[in-house]
Amino acid sequence: MVHPCVPADLVCEFLTNPIGLHETKPRLSWKISDSRPGAVQKAYQIQAASSIELLESKPDLWKTGWVKEDNSLDIEWNGKTLKSKMKVYWRVQVKDLKGKESPWSDVATFEIGLLKKSDWSAKWITDGKERPGPSPYFRKSFELKEKPVKARLYITARGLFEATINGQRFCNDYFTPGWTEFSKRIHSLTYDVTTQLNQGRNAIGVVLGDGWFAGNMGWEKNRNIWGKTLSLLSELEVEYADGSTEKIVSGDDWRFQYGAVRESDIYNGETVDMRQTQFGWDTPNFDESSWSNAILAEDPKGAVISKPGYPVRKQEELSAINLTEPRFGVHVFDLGQNMVGLVRVKIHGHQWGDEVVVRYAEMLQDNGMIYTENLRSAKCTDRVICNEWGEIEFIPKFTFHGFRYVELTGLRRKPDLTDVVGLVLHTEIPSTGSFECSDPLVNRLQQNIVWGQKGNFFEAPTDCPQRDERLGWTGDAQIFIGTAAFNRDVTSFFEKWCEDMEDAQFDDGRIPHVAPNPFRDEKGNSGGGGGQAAWADAVVICPWMIYQCYGDKRILEKRYESMKKFVDWRADTAKNYIHSQAVFGDWLAIDIPDGKCDKSPTPKDLIATAYMAKTTEILSKVATILGKSADAKKYATLFKNIKKAFNDEFVTPAGRIAGDTQASYLLALGFDLLSPSQREAAGKNLIKAIDNWKGHLATGFVGTPLLAPVLTSIGRTDIAYKLLLKQTYPSWLYTVLQGATTMWERWNSYTKEKGFGSASMNSFNHYAYGAIGEWMVSTVAGLGVDPEVPGYKHIIIKPQPGEGITWAKADLVTRYGLASSAWKIEDGVLTVNVVVPPNTSATVYLPGKDPIEVSAGQFEYKVEIVAPKSEAKESKKAKVKKAKTKQLTKVN
Ligand code: BGC
Repeated sequence: MVHPCVPADLVCEFLTNPIGLHETKPRLSWKISDSRPGAVQKAYQIQAASSIELLESKPDLWKTGWVKEDNSLDIEWNGKTLKSKMKVYWRVQVKDLKGKESPWSDVATFEIGLLKKSDWSAKWITDGKERPGPSPYFRKSFELKEKPVKARLYITARGLFEATINGQRFCNDYFTPGWTEFSKRIHSLTYDVTTQLNQGRNAIGVVLGDGWFAGNMGWEKNRNIWGKTLSLLSELEVEYADGSTEKIVSGDDWRFQYGAVRESDIYNGETVDMRQTQFGWDTPNFDESSWSNAILAEDPKGAVISKPGYPVRKQEELSAINLTEPRFGVHVFDLGQNMVGLVRVKIHGHQWGDEVVVRYAEMLQDNGMIYTENLRSAKCTDRVICNEWGEIEFIPKFTFHGFRYVELTGLRRKPDLTDVVGLVLHTEIPSTGSFECSDPLVNRLQQNIVWGQKGNFFEAPTDCPQRDERLGWTGDAQIFIGTAAFNRDVTSFFEKWCEDMEDAQFDDGRIPHVAPNPFRDEKGNSGGGGGQAAWADAVVICPWMIYQCYGDKRILEKRYESMKKFVDWRADTAKNYIHSQAVFGDWLAIDIPDGKCDKSPTPKDLIATAYMAKTTEILSKVATILGKSADAKKYATLFKNIKKAFNDEFVTPAGRIAGDTQASYLLALGFDLLSPSQREAAGKNLIKAIDNWKGHLATGFVGTPLLAPVLTSIGRTDIAYKLLLKQTYPSWLYTVLQGATTMWERWNSYTKEKGFGSASMNSFNHYAYGAIGEWMVSTVAGLGVDPEVPGYKHIIIKPQPGEGITWAKADLVTRYGLASSAWKIEDGVLTVNVVVPPNTSATVYLPGKDPIEVSAGQFEYKVEIVAPKSEAKESKKAKVKKAKTKQLTKVN
């Protein structure tokens, strides 16, 4: 008989059966598969062993015995010390709601990577050439006495690498080893290549590109920021059936030569000269006599560390939906969606030496030609110089583009619609959440938010994927993280990027505007400024949000010092608890008088002080969670002092706030900096500030994310709905109506009436304003975290229907399983359907009813919506606002 409760979906460090971990105290998690109402885990036990046989008979690495806890997440390894290359088999058993033992889970595994420098036998090798230049191709052929039973490739590069074994790409990874603050750490990848190797002769081939390490970075046209030459570190270890092992490691016996990739750059594109292709260069019997021996390179200053989380991978392919020829010989493909990644282009009918040029754009001009002005200095151009051998298929290796349109010129034959395919790439971040409602435009908005996230979660949370930036802008990331954490599982993505922020932190505690930080001062040290409110605050807010959304406590532990260093820097540089550094202001706000991005009338010292208060308060909470009571007290007091100073400096007793802008009120209300009476007055002033803009938002990066949540917090969800559903400029749906398929940097990046906004700052794939997603999920659909019991261990279900939407639904695969909140209004009855995953509980708030506490299960509630008379007068159609509950049913 199938047992009703089974532990399933075992993960280690958020990954399924990972290999190449750097953690020696990895965290183990699982879900309870149990559909019974009230399903919980009463206890668990973990067993771990060095082989599958031992796991069954005599677990030699770890036996927890029964632990009477309901915790199924992030159980820290506490077994035998884990060493490099160790493979661990583990399984879990739980006691269910009745205290009955479940069967053991399926066996899961994890494997440790090379932990220490001394674990590597390989040497760094290079071609010795300063960049830019053609890509070096390295190869090594070797003999294996028999087919190995196990083979691991540990590999990294300064630059980007693409590796093959016996001429075959063996993974779906791109842009490896990724992007870190290379002066501090370089990630390495571990691959299981057992099936790729044969008895006899084999070959490994690796081609390198400039990437983030040596290519252009930042609009100041800097390159070679982290180094001038490219280099490779590669270690292949094979194990034979008799247990003996052999290593094939990079060294000066490897051979290198140049080939088809003549130039590559993330911003500018790639030039591939097919005439220089080294055919079969990565196969065992290739004649390498004209190749040179690799040169040994210096070891890097930073540590080589196994990559946490997933790399960038190909996620999907998009077919073109239209093909035009706006000018003779200029062929423009429309992929129907602004996307990020590469293209696969087929070229036929060419002759030796023909040059085909591939250009990319997010938009078209009126004349049908591609619009490239907003790419600024980024050339975003790939060139293919054809050889004489048959049809060519071209995929660039070491550049990526943000585009919807692809232009081909230099063809001899008219192309077919199928000749261009878009390859969507981004860091692999598993999809977890979905939101839908009765308004198709809002659904398109949600899709735009998701696409904005896909394209910009590319090793770091980047501002945009197309122009000469693509940088890990801190402000953008902290604004969007709550929305991001619903759409996808971004735990390891942010664990990695928060480490990047710490690596990039200045000695005085400031956080640079971007992480990793390519900007340099005169001495070549990290530069470019930092410490600015709403941007640098990401160092505190991002780990906090990851903790909130996933219950990940380790990120708080690991990043605590960097948070504290920043908060201390700001406290030390404040005057009487007022800080002034908010250089970007309410960036790109509508209320900017002279068109300057950073000149919104919301006072900068108000922004800086409000943010100082917010992150100081978060830090004191973090200190409490981590048991650092002295710090908790210290920062709680500091927060109180800042709050008082904020009030003294910026708030009148009647609740008027300096600047009198929407953002001023939003910050004070959103960060809870006011007394109850001031709050009420400030709330009214906020409404006036919205009325001043004829019921429209006037906010930028700082104000916008707070708009809807603050309106809800002051009881004006009705106005939040109006803003969400507004179709006139500026509004979310306005961009949708202008044809957006992603989030735009500006509210008017493009308008059908006036065309393109200022090209200097006009990305069509900038996720920041997508921060509304968090409210759509938590308030419209009504599925939210409980800040007191994070990670959806306790869920807040609080749908708040509003005028203009008749149904909404949010599904989220939490770390415990599927949670869902869905509602519809039909014939005056609100029906709410709720799914609470096993081992969690929820509080359900229904209009006009007392909160209902529930445990795991599926529930349906029906509430008759009756608008009270006074209410009906006040807001004619807002029937739902103070609804009465007539009947309540619970269905399990
Ligand atoms: C980026 C933004 C960023 C801003 C701050 C821009 O160039 O694209 O998203 O936050 O600069 O100044």
